[in-house]
Amino acid sequence: MAAAPVVSEFSFPPPLSLYIHIPWCARKCPYCDFNSHAADHGLPEQTYVDALLADLEQEVADVWGRTVQTIFIGGGTPSLFSPAAIERLISGVKSRLSCKPGLETTLEANPGTLDQGRFREFRNAGINRLSIGVQSFNDVLLERIGRIHDAASAITAVESAREAGFETFNLDLMFGLPGQSLDLALTDLHRALDLSPPHLSWYQLSLEPNTLFHQQRPTLPEDDQIWEMQKEGQARLAAYGYTQYEISAYAREGQICRHNLNYWRYGDYLGIGAGAHAKLTFPAAQRVQRTWKIKHPRTYLRAAGSEKRIGGRLHLESREVIFEFLLNALRLNDGFTKQDFEMSTGLKFSRLLPILDAVKAPELLEMDVHGIRASRLGQCYLNDLLLEFLPDNRASQLRCD
Ligand SMILES: C[S@@+](CC[C@H](N)C(=O)[O-])C[C@H]1O[C@@H](n2cnc3c(N)ncnc32)[C@H](O)[C@@H]1O
Ligand code: SF4
Repeated sequence: MAAAPVVSEFSFPPPLSLYIHIPWCARKCPYCDFNSHAADHGLPEQTYVDALLADLEQEVADVWGRTVQTIFIGGGTPSLFSPAAIERLISGVKSRLSCKPGLETTLEANPGTLDQGRFREFRNAGINRLSIGVQSFNDVLLERIGRIHDAASAITAVESAREAGFETFNLDLMFGLPGQSLDLALTDLHRALDLSPPHLSWYQLSLEPNTLFHQQRPTLPEDDQIWEMQKEGQARLAAYGYTQYEISAYAREGQICRHNLNYWRYGDYLGIGAGAHAKLTFPAAQRVQRTWKIKHPRTYLRAAGSEKRIGGRLHLESREVIFEFLLNALRLNDGFTKQDFEMSTGLKFSRLLPILDAVKAPELLEMDVHGIRASRLGQCYLNDLLLEFLPDNRASQLRCD
């Protein structure tokens, strides 16, 4: 029997974003499994920007007539690149793609790579949102997790961002660090809150395969301590006026990250750069497609302007589209509505109903007139909930924390 069409009566695809990956860092952090490499042999800045634009050139036909809503330059540590290179990149993007006027354009920055002048220049280059990787304000812990900066430079980075006129920015902070007590975790959080960031990403440190911390495991706090950190931290964040809208994302009013929200709402995105992923909907062909670029920067640099840049491509069956939608949308505290489902997947809501009905632990889900979301309990056991929706052929691909 032929597979049911993935995209049906909805003729318009979901909103489109652009992710740009810059894969170099000053030093590789021992916990990090991102596609990032220590820039020991210098940065091929100019050739990499050329490669990114050559890569984009190959993609434009797939998004003809569509307008990009957000740009996110991530890594790696994109703030290692000069403002002039970032400016050439952004203007190259804007001359190849239709972009929404004033679109959210984020640059990830490491406090160890910044100075006041750079921030202003990044702003002039077209960046209007920074995501600053602070991780902790405790110098002992920062050293323990291999960071190249101390707390003082993180504070200076935040002050400089404000002085340079960034009205919105994010701080990345982690908890559950080696040797961190509940007190230390909350002190860290309060030091972040004292700086009043418009947005805070507060991640629990995870030990990922293929990292130094996975081979030489540090002693992490016990699970019940981590649970306390999370519970207490969430209460403090709420008291300071931050709304949690995703597992790790907290924002002041009007400060949510539109780019990340588009991922979680199962929007479309182009991805350029070494190892970058893309997801695009082709309504006319009734197809949802995932593509990823080859991972290693050196190989990517050679292949960026040709088909060889493609690391892999997958056309999703409708069952997989449903799973991927749930994988993302259930991370959001507000979950999703019937309309969200239909607009993002192009599938009829009736396709989802039997799948929801078959959930063996219904207490992990909440369904009412406003929509469908993970319950409080479901948020705590999100992986268990998502496993219930897993199509058989994806069992080996789901990564559990
Ligand atoms: C690409 S990095 C951000 C920018 C920059 N490279 C930096 O580290 O300053 C994205 C963020 O993911 C988080 N992260 C990375 N590895 C993690 C891990 N193993 N567990 C939890 N969070 C992690 C960190 O907070 C990090 O800032
Ligand atoms: S956490 Fe950030 S700075 Fe550290 S290696 Fe990963 S991407 Fe680079």
